[in-house]
Amino acid sequence: MESASTDTVPERRARDREAAERLFPEYTGGRRPRRIVYSEEEIAARVRAMGAEIAAYYPPDASILLLGLLKGSFVFIGDLVRCIRRPIHVDFLVAASYGSGTTTSGEVKLLYDPSAPMADRHLVVVEDIVDSGTTLNRLKGALEEREPASIEVCALLHKHVAEDLAWEPRWVGFDAPREFLVGYGLDHAEDFRHLPFIASLPAE
Ligand code: IMP
Ligand code: MG
Repeated sequence: MESASTDTVPERRARDREAAERLFPEYTGGRRPRRIVYSEEEIAARVRAMGAEIAAYYPPDASILLLGLLKGSFVFIGDLVRCIRRPIHVDFLVAASYGSGTTTSGEVKLLYDPSAPMADRHLVVVEDIVDSGTTLNRLKGALEEREPASIEVCALLHKHVAEDLAWEPRWVGFDAPREFLVGYGLDHAEDFRHLPFIASLPAE
């Protein structure tokens, strides 16, 4: 017997995650997750709260430019912008790292350079997940050159692995477990980006 009105929050969360687990093979051609980490409903509630926080953070006359870091942020930023109830502009960054993949000494090059002017504007870099922090560390200098009024980072997930983050994100959706996560924009070899929930994969 189901009675939505008397469900406790943990009961509802468990049911949403079970539903997502049942959908996983349909989305993935028969594969199974290790576990569902965040359901569609949990993500939506968190994204709504983050949108309200971002809207309230800046003075009323601030010119705000959200910059989604592709590809991973495409789902998140699509939902997030619809939860920011004030004037904003949206553009994207496509970054490629050069040099050794295992060190942070390399350069980041912008493959797509946003046409939006950045000088004197408040930038919000929207990232899917902060893991080592390499991507953000490298991006910092490239964006500061454009002389924006401020730069903040909004990350849906933060693994808290990095010890020397050039920027700590001002807004974090979830403190994520140190598992390999897929869905809601996050991929494994380009698979799984289209899942409406976030799951972790079984060890190979
Ligand atoms: P970082 O530069 O090490 O912080 O890693 C950031 C980027 O690595 C993210 O934007 C993702 O594209 C990717 N990444 C890191 N951890 C995961 C994960 O658990 N699943 C999928 N992609 C990840
Ligand atoms: Mg990414």
